[in-house]
Amino acid sequence: MSLPTLRIRRSRINLGGAVFGRVTRATVCLASLAAASLLSLTPLAAWGAAAPATIDPEASCTTGGCHADTKAKPKLHGPVAGDACQGCHEPKGKEHNFAKISDIPALCTKCHDKVDGAANVHPPAQGDCLVCHDPHGSKVAGMLKADDQKALCFSCHEDAILKGEYQHGPAAVGACSVCHNPHSSAQEKLLRSPGNELCATCHADLVKDMTSGANVHEPVRKGCVSCHNPHSGPKPKMLPGSTQELCAKCHEKQVKAAKESAVPHGPAAEDGGCTKCHTPHGSNNRPLLKAAQTDLCVGCHDKPLEAGKTKLTNMKQLLADNKEWHGPIRDGGCTGCHEAHGGANFRLLKQPYPATFYSAYQPDNYALCFTCHEPMMAKEEFTKTLTGFRDGDRNMHFLHVNKADRGRTCRACHEVHASTHPRHIRESVPYGNWSLPINFAITEQGGSCQPGCHAAKTYDRSKKN
Ligand code: HEC
Ligand code: HEC
Ligand code: HEC
Ligand code: HEC
Ligand code: HEC
Ligand code: HEC
Ligand code: HEC
Ligand code: HEC
Ligand code: HEC
Ligand code: HEC
Ligand code: HEC
Ligand code: HEC
Ligand code: HEC
Repeated sequence: MSLPTLRIRRSRINLGGAVFGRVTRATVCLASLAAASLLSLTPLAAWGAAAPATIDPEASCTTGGCHADTKAKPKLHGPVAGDACQGCHEPKGKEHNFAKISDIPALCTKCHDKVDGAANVHPPAQGDCLVCHDPHGSKVAGMLKADDQKALCFSCHEDAILKGEYQHGPAAVGACSVCHNPHSSAQEKLLRSPGNELCATCHADLVKDMTSGANVHEPVRKGCVSCHNPHSGPKPKMLPGSTQELCAKCHEKQVKAAKESAVPHGPAAEDGGCTKCHTPHGSNNRPLLKAAQTDLCVGCHDKPLEAGKTKLTNMKQLLADNKEWHGPIRDGGCTGCHEAHGGANFRLLKQPYPATFYSAYQPDNYALCFTCHEPMMAKEEFTKTLTGFRDGDRNMHFLHVNKADRGRTCRACHEVHASTHPRHIRESVPYGNWSLPINFAITEQGGSCQPGCHAAKTYDRSKKN
């Protein structure tokens, strides 16, 4: 290299306060190095015969046509900005002779803390810092040897982690070092904080909400990344698949029920449906329901929804208008009788129950009611114990229900959700296009009715047959 006018201006070795910034030990190091430079630099001519005669003693290393490129980058290293070249390049002997620097990382840790103090060290940061850093300066902050962090990291790592269509803000813009310590960390994967604490550094309120409720979804406790990719994913919110595919990874049974049941439930069967009723994170309602169960169900069943050719009862209205709620509903649930995800029986019922007004008597057909009620109630023609619906010891349930062909199903008399009458006796029954009235009245020992089926009748349990 020809150095006709090498100029070094001592006054440019800037040790000003702003330069030191975050570097903990720089103050001490720079000060002592600078003291050494001051000694070794005066005067240049004293370096001996090899020094070019034309070197301007007033010039710095980067002025007078020499080494200007060292300072040409927008973001300069502290000591470079301050022209403290000799903080690193120490002249050998009296020549303008600077040996190739070989004591990295020792050179760097003269002024900076060691980067490999923690349990997990990023392999490249163990040795040559200059794999990633330019010692003088760079286009970008951090003196990186690339245009940005993405380019730097992906010079060694697969960029597949950012190929998902839906990208996480900080990863997408290449702020890798917000989450990863590029040098070393006590955490696996060089993470800056353990587990969900990392996510909470930016999503504090969200993480608190999701993890402090009465019921927290197990994988959320384990870590947000059990479901969300921190970089990118093929589905919105950086999820690995559709909601159903995601849930199916751990809840195959429910997803199978939702997709393959003979009687499907619309919201569970559709993709994205699982989160119509459940929150994936945490909830005060079991099991992770978005609202208390009854409110949840009538949240949609607040109008006559269509199922096939039928219009379903507006359950919200029915429950509001009829204050005598059937036991299980009163106790807070619809799933005492219904499957939420899909089932094998009429109307998603958990057990068989006839779909029609008349049905041949088979106790199995009424398995639903008989899981909670006396299964023998319609079996014996005469009884004094099995039911209160009797005239003397004549079992009126047997009389109406227990027939080889046209037995009346329970719906002929009972409203199964809610009613205004005691014993859930209906006001009227849909019979073809006609709303058949029942006109039921209860008495102390029995009751009477005058339905559209026959003339007024009474039953009286105290009667001696
Ligand atoms: C923080 C330490 C440090 C400071 C301060 C520093 N350099 Fe360097 N410089 C290096 C390292 C490391 C290399 C590359 C080592 C090698 O390959 O020999 C280098 C290389 C060089 C080279 C060789 C060509 C090149 O760019 O690789 C020149 C010329 C140079 N520096 C000039 C300067 C000048 C001029 C200054 C002051 C404005 C300066 N340096 C400040 C560390 C430093
Ligand atoms: C003579 C002391 C000194 C030496 C030797 C030194 N540095 Fe620095 N370094 C500094 C100062 C001063 C700063 C500026 C601190 C600030 O702005 O917060 C700095 C800042 C940095 C920064 C942060 C830049 C930014 O944009 O935030 C990096 C990265 C860095 N040094 C890397 C290195 C590497 C790599 C080496 C070894 C090749 C090294 N340093 C050697 C003094 C030194
Ligand atoms: C794998 C690449 C890589 C290696 C190797 C590496 N660094 Fe860094 N370093 C980075 C990145 C990325 C940043 C963060 C830049 C930012 O956040 O703007 C950084 C930041 C720094 C900083 C600024 C302060 C801080 O900690 O954020 C210093 C000082 C530093 N590195 C010194 C070193 C030293 C000394 C070595 C060698 C022991 C080294 N680095 C090796 C990538 C690396
Ligand atoms: C010079 C090559 C190189 C560069 C540049 C580099 N890395 Fe690495 N990184 C490695 C090697 C080698 C490993 C250890 C092997 C492995 O686990 O893949 C590693 C490991 C990692 C790990 C831990 C992986 C694990 O499974 O435990 C993370 C996280 C990581 N690097 C992030 C980064 C980030 C962020 C950047 C950019 C700031 C970066 N790396 C830049 C070479 C590099
Ligand atoms: C929002 C925080 C965050 C950001 C930003 C981020 N990462 Fe990660 N990264 C993580 C977490 C968390 C893991 C661990 C994932 C796990 O354990 O499943 C990880 C894992 C990794 C791994 C290990 C391989 C793997 O997939 O498990 C590499 C490599 C990596 N990140 C590189 C990068 C690079 C490169 C960038 C910048 C483009 C980046 N990360 C940005 C949080 C982040
Ligand atoms: C450095 C800050 C930061 C960290 C750390 C961080 N995020 Fe984010 N996150 C953001 C930003 C910024 C957005 C985009 C802005 C928005 O949509 O609210 C975002 C968006 C998201 C979204 C998508 C929201 C939507 O509605 O599309 C999810 C999911 C998410 N982050 C999860 C995580 C998880 C999981 C972690 C921990 C591994 C994490 N974040 C860590 C900053 C961060
Ligand atoms: C069991 C898988 C799973 C886990 C674990 C998980 N999420 Fe989610 N997250 C989802 C699903 C699924 C959605 C989309 C919800 C929807 O479509 O209604 C979502 C949505 C989000 C959103 C978008 C806003 C919202 O509330 O819908 C953010 C932000 C978010 N999650 C952050 C987190 C954070 C932070 C954690 C860890 C505390 C976490 N998630 C843990 C599955 C999960
Ligand atoms: C990574 C595995 C995993 C994924 C993915 C997952 N879960 Fe879970 N889920 C669990 C574990 C573990 C439990 C607790 C043990 C159990 O009840 O099976 C649980 C429990 C539940 C519970 C019952 C909670 C209770 O209080 O009994 C519901 C509801 C639930 N998950 C819904 C979902 C939904 C909806 C999705 C999709 C958005 C989903 N889960 C995705 C693992 C997962
Ligand atoms: C997100 C809206 C929504 C919620 C919440 C909801 N349903 Fe439904 N339900 C529907 C729709 C729409 C139909 C119409 C038929 C279909 O699409 O399966 C339906 C149909 C039904 C049927 C008749 C099924 C048939 O085909 O005969 C029953 C019974 C039922 N729901 C009970 C419930 C119960 C019990 C709950 C609470 C656990 C509930 N629903 C919550 C939307 C909902
Ligand atoms: C219409 C509302 C609704 C939809 C949609 C829904 N669930 Fe549920 N889920 C419930 C209710 C209500 C329960 C409580 C069942 C009970 O108590 O018998 C439940 C219970 C669960 C449980 C706890 C174990 C069990 O079976 O009782 C899991 C796991 C679960 N659901 C996963 C899912 C998955 C996965 C999807 C999507 C395929 C989904 N749910 C869709 C309402 C729903
Ligand atoms: C004691 C058992 C039981 C409980 C508890 C129950 N149901 Fe039903 N549900 C039934 C039976 C039986 C049918 C069929 C009625 C019929 O066709 O006569 C039915 C039918 C339905 C239908 C279809 C109505 C129609 O017009 O055909 C809907 C919607 C429904 N139930 C919603 C609910 C909701 C919402 C809850 C909770 C508030 C609930 N059920 C609680 C037993 C029950
Ligand atoms: C999940 C359990 C369960 C199922 C299934 C069930 N019931 Fe009930 N039923 C109850 C409870 C609990 C009561 C309230 C008993 C009380 O208040 O003493 C009740 C009360 C009744 C009553 C009123 C009794 C009285 O003394 O006032 C009638 C009538 C009735 N159920 C009919 C039926 C019919 C018809 C079916 C089938 C369609 C059925 N139940 C299915 C639990 C159930
Ligand atoms: C013809 C109308 C009628 C039919 C059909 C009918 N019930 Fe009843 N049921 C009644 C009457 C009336 C009472 C009230 C008896 C009393 O306490 O005075 C009653 C009472 C009940 C009770 C309260 C306990 C008891 O036995 O006294 C239950 C439970 C019950 N019925 C279940 C059923 C079931 C299950 C079916 C279908 C298998 C059914 N009922 C069919 C009229 C009927």
